[in-house]
Amino acid sequence: MSKDLDRVRDQWETLAKTDPFWAVLTETEYHDGQARKDFFDSGRTDVRMLLEVLDRHGKSYGDVAVDFGCGVGRLTYALAEHCKQVTGIDVSPSMIEQAQAGNPFPDRVAFVHNEAATLPFDDDSVDLVISVITLQHIRPALSLRYLLEMARITKPGGHLVFQLPSHVPATRPMPPSLSKAQLHVLEAPTSLEVGESGYVRVGVKNISQGEWLPGQLLNAGNHWRLHGAMVVQDDGREPVRCPLRPGESTEALIRIMAPGEPGSYELEVDLVQETVAWWAERDSPTVRVPVEVRAKAPAITAPVDEAPAPVVAKTTGDELEMNGVRKDLVYALFEQIGCTVLEATPDERAGGHWLSYVYAIEVGEYRIDINHGI
Ligand SMILES: C[S@@+](CC[C@H](N)C(=O)[O-])C[C@H]1O[C@@H](n2cnc3c(N)ncnc32)[C@H](O)[C@@H]1O
Repeated sequence: MSKDLDRVRDQWETLAKTDPFWAVLTETEYHDGQARKDFFDSGRTDVRMLLEVLDRHGKSYGDVAVDFGCGVGRLTYALAEHCKQVTGIDVSPSMIEQAQAGNPFPDRVAFVHNEAATLPFDDDSVDLVISVITLQHIRPALSLRYLLEMARITKPGGHLVFQLPSHVPATRPMPPSLSKAQLHVLEAPTSLEVGESGYVRVGVKNISQGEWLPGQLLNAGNHWRLHGAMVVQDDGREPVRCPLRPGESTEALIRIMAPGEPGSYELEVDLVQETVAWWAERDSPTVRVPVEVRAKAPAITAPVDEAPAPVVAKTTGDELEMNGVRKDLVYALFEQIGCTVLEATPDERAGGHWLSYVYAIEVGEYRIDINHGI
């Protein structure tokens, strides 16, 4: 297995053991397996949206489908409401275990753990492959391999429908006269353990004379200060919802992580136009709140025969990276191997400032035999 795959597997495995539903959809309501029904309903909505793309082109879904990067089965179960046989594939054994445990269609839906850069299916053996919020965390060289693999396993006339970010568009610096914000901390923890995650909710008001336009990579972010000195510059980031006209306000919920050493810190929130400047450098006022960072509580020891299940750290401290493959390259790749891109629909799942698309591909007769090299 490649180092890339090792890394991806280890990260997802940690997340799957910690908080699998939230690892799939990072909305706060899904923490610790809450709102299960809403979680799986969201899978139905997503699958309907993916299949609607094929409906628009008058294409059928076929009987045999694969969900690449299936997680706990959110989309896999939903896909089984449209296709006779569905297989969910995932690099994380714990995700697969969870998906299997809740499988409502055990006779028609299978879950397979796969740590290879190839997909465990014969050539031309499936009608449809879907994938959502998975390829975006895989490095492009590997994503391209998976895309070729998806085409290999799909019958001519079958389809791939997947979401994949393209890139973050270059930004023009906002003029300093627009970089004026009033920030309020609406909610923040007063105390956290070292390395523990939490949320800070911030009110953001445009107090400049001009409109903040969308697409300018404007984020609310936080630093950590100790005795006034900045000890962590880059921690959480959350996009500021734009457009925002002069005098208008919005809110941002920033996911923060306490520093690694205990102490009486200040959490400082500022706005940042990515790759351009923190607004404090432009004399826009920041806002600070005290947060006590505590040492980790000592583990409670129990007699061996009643030892609790091992506690897994709440976060890896190692954020999942975002990756994209340029839209032009996706088109060229599929055209090169005789497939047709039916459409690339703009999609917001990658969040932040990524341009991301849902691609619908019709697989053609001619494809390169990947197993014999390109
Ligand atoms: C954010 S979750 C999305 C799960 C599912 N697609 C959904 O939308 O509910 C991403 C999933 O992709 C899986 N994954 C990441 N890299 C993978 C790879 N190389 N092969 C298979 N699965 C992978 C992760 O383990 C994780 O379960």
